[in-house]
Amino acid sequence: VAQPGRAAPVLSFVRNFWGGAARPIERMNQITVNTPSNPYVVLVGRGLLRKAGAALATLRDYSGVFVLSSARVWKHWGRAVEASLKDAGPLRRILFDDAERAKTLATYEKVCRQLVREGADRRALLLAVGGGVVGDVAGFVAATYLRGVRLVHVPTTLMAQVDSAIGGKTGVNLREGKNLIGAFYQPRLVLADPQTLGTLPVREFRAGLYEVIKYGILGDAELFGYLEENLADILKQTPQHLDWMITRCVEAKAGIVGKDETESGLREVLNLGHTFAHALETATGYRTYRHGEAVGWGLLAAARLAAHLKMLPAEDCARILALVRRVGALPAWPRSKPEALMQIMRSDKKARGGRVRFVLPKAIASVETGVEASDETVREVLRQMAAGRGAS
Ligand SMILES: NC(=O)c1ccc[n+]([C@@H]2O[C@H](COP(=O)([O-])OP(=O)(O)OC[C@H]3O[C@@H](n4cnc5c(N)ncnc54)[C@H](O)[C@@H]3O)[C@@H](O)[C@H]2O)c1
Ligand SMILES: [Zn+2]
Repeated sequence: VAQPGRAAPVLSFVRNFWGGAARPIERMNQITVNTPSNPYVVLVGRGLLRKAGAALATLRDYSGVFVLSSARVWKHWGRAVEASLKDAGPLRRILFDDAERAKTLATYEKVCRQLVREGADRRALLLAVGGGVVGDVAGFVAATYLRGVRLVHVPTTLMAQVDSAIGGKTGVNLREGKNLIGAFYQPRLVLADPQTLGTLPVREFRAGLYEVIKYGILGDAELFGYLEENLADILKQTPQHLDWMITRCVEAKAGIVGKDETESGLREVLNLGHTFAHALETATGYRTYRHGEAVGWGLLAAARLAAHLKMLPAEDCARILALVRRVGALPAWPRSKPEALMQIMRSDKKARGGRVRFVLPKAIASVETGVEASDETVREVLRQMAAGRGAS
């Protein structure tokens, strides 16, 4: 995508896709995710939510739409979803708690049982409307209910639009660790409407920005520079900036998961900052940090560790620390002892035989995967973070 001001692409409405629907979205970007299991399209455009019904109609052959969402999301966007789906056949709605600590097997089971009671059969279509928690739970339900039913994502947080709704990772947490239960399961379609971010609490918006910064560090110098230059306007949610940024991230993620659907290699780069992040979230019982905030800390720690290992030039390290810090204040680093965090990291999904494998930056827009560091080095970085020097 060209940057705003440099003639943002005006993709004329995808006519065959929408069957000539009235009132096209003026500015819509279409990104294809070429996963071998099921290629699909991500649409990014203002007003898309109100066209959800027309979009679903193109998927055909489903027996009914089951909207999975949370009370909080529904309060803001339920009426718009219902209005857009009024011609899509009978609509059933299942609302569940989307707190991170409710991203559990218990919630998953409740949703599945409700689907049975509502009469969802193998041709049911699940429409996940919400942030990453709704999407991850709904996705895991879709992957497993009757061994798999159709899934469409309508992400309503910045995090979900730039990251969690794309790529097919679904699942729930265990008390012992983040996302330890799950499946790869691709949606049929993703409808990302940046307008829905208008009701998002500012803390949630900032949390999503850390994941955007992640894309810059792992492979997009232009995006990183763009964030450095325009952060103030982005924080004001200027549509032009927001739409460009979201599309850019979707393209990045689509490109990566299209080449490595089930994380046999390349896709690992997306875990930048996440070994630390998951440890912080687990250590605090999923109550202290928004996932994105934990990623913010994770990016700081990864940069510190990389600098410590002399993998990352000091100047690039400083740019990463500065940009992360400019997004806003993070909730304090946890009180947990370094050894406790390291113990959690050893049971991280990416660990092999109890050895932690980090994704670390080598420069802006370049990372290395599978980096092992001595316990002593990791402990030292964790000590620095705890001492409040992580962001300085
Ligand atoms: N599957 C993946 O690839 C992937 C990638 C990144 C993150 N994740 C997961 O996503 C989760 C975090 O997602 P998140 O950051 O979207 O948080 P979230 O789902 O917890 O949503 C944040 C809060 O915002 C509310 N909300 C959502 N949309 C809203 C809107 N438009 N207006 C007002 N309020 C709204 C929600 O009710 C919730 O309280 C974590 O569990 C993380 O592990 C998964
Ligand atoms: Zn993440």
